Amino acid sequence: LKKKKKKFHRCLVFLRTLTRALAPAHLRFGGTKTDFLIFDPSKEPTFEERSYWQSQVNHDICQSGPVPPDVMRRLQVEWPLQEQLLLREQRQKEFKNTTYSRSSVDMLYSFAKCSGLDLIFGLNALLRTADLRWNSSNAQLLLDYCSSRGYNISWELGNEPNSFRKKAGISIDGLQLGEDFVELHKLLRNSTFKTAKLYGPDIGQPRRKVVQLLRSFLMAGGDVIDAVVEETKPGKKVWLGETSSAYGGGAPLLSDTFVAGFMWLDKLGLSARMGIEVVMRQVLFGAGNYHLVDKNFEPVPDYWLSLLFKRLVGTKVFMASVKGPDKSKLRVYLHCTNTNHPRYQEGDLTLYALNLHNVTKYLRLPYQLFNKEVDKYIVRPWGPDGLFSK
Ligand SMILES: *[C@@H]1O[C@H](CO)[C@@H](O)[C@H](O)[C@H]1NC(C)=O
Ligand SMILES: *[C@@H]1O[C@H](CO)[C@@H](O)[C@H](O)[C@H]1NC(C)=O
Ligand SMILES: *[C@@H]1O[C@H](CO)[C@@H](O)[C@H](O)[C@H]1NC(C)=O
Ligand SMILES: *[C@@H]1O[C@H](CO)[C@@H](O)[C@H](O)[C@H]1NC(C)=O
Repeated sequence: LKKKKKKFHRCLVFLRTLTRALAPAHLRFGGTKTDFLIFDPSKEPTFEERSYWQSQVNHDICQSGPVPPDVMRRLQVEWPLQEQLLLREQRQKEFKNTTYSRSSVDMLYSFAKCSGLDLIFGLNALLRTADLRWNSSNAQLLLDYCSSRGYNISWELGNEPNSFRKKAGISIDGLQLGEDFVELHKLLRNSTFKTAKLYGPDIGQPRRKVVQLLRSFLMAGGDVIDAVVEETKPGKKVWLGETSSAYGGGAPLLSDTFVAGFMWLDKLGLSARMGIEVVMRQVLFGAGNYHLVDKNFEPVPDYWLSLLFKRLVGTKVFMASVKGPDKSKLRVYLHCTNTNHPRYQEGDLTLYALNLHNVTKYLRLPYQLFNKEVDKYIVRPWGPDGLFSK
């Protein structure tokens, strides 16, 4: 038992090392399940949670270590089961309420904190009173607990409110959702979370009806949020609160291979050029194929691409384009270099280019750059699997 505890602990430490390399970043705890989770302060911790906290007494929780084989084997057995559950729920659109304990909150928070990430906690928006207002009593319990622990958390309310009817048979209009955010904002003001950030609404599929929902939301609740998705309120930033290569867990044999990187990098480049401040990527770790770190704790190509992006690409963006034929298959993006990188300084530029042709192409930089020193980072698939290489 003692051995098992130690090994479980080491796994978390390893994942944290990979995660920390992506900081500064946000860790969004959200998704469909968010709106089916209920905080139960009296619930006992699970075996893994208990062992995690016990091991913490003797260990520095932020130190790294190897991943032991028997933990990997255990994950490999559980991973497909989890995947089936996710897919089944998605297909049947039938979700069950689940409770989580104080210990789960502690573990999530300590993971984020130790990785240097800002935790965004998605609160359950489907807890409703008889007249369909948000019932905030469970959120209040959680806020009280997090305050008592001195946690610094950002908040969100509800996951994809545009599909509440499909998932739970409840229809919430934009005005109501806006008022719910105002209610949450009040709770935050009356707590240690006075200056905490509040994000949302987490709108998906922004077409006709959903755009209407967003408009009325912004009328009622636009003043209390710190960033929105898809449409701006003057002065508020737009974020992509969730994105990936495919829905429902990702595309088998594609999402975790080299070829997925084209869309990911193009999305990052386009978003930056459109002024989208933050792009969140589903998922860091977990069942499916669109994770950044797989069940063997191996980073997949999109992890390395994200790491390279975070290291080299700064937040100032220029408009850059390719002249000549075939330009739609050569994508280029130009930023100031991230000067947190020890090798680079202010004035340096990062140009990243995607070649969508199936043959080698050459890019010629404008003549102003002819005599400049260039570091080239060339990212290519490796081995017999070609574009499907991991
Ligand atoms: C809480 O976290 C936010 C986001 O990471 C940060 O900007 C803020 O300074 C933190 N507040 C405190 C009191 O540590
Ligand atoms: C809100 O939910 C709590 C817990 O389920 C319940 O006790 C309370 O009566 C509800 N309040 C309203 C106004 O529905
Ligand atoms: C503020 O929070 C305290 C402690 O959680 C609670 O007792 C009080 O009723 C709250 N006040 C308002 C106006 O919500
Ligand atoms: C490259 O793509 C073209 C069509 O765009 C195709 O005709 C050609 O066979 C492909 N070549 C290779 C080496 O895959």
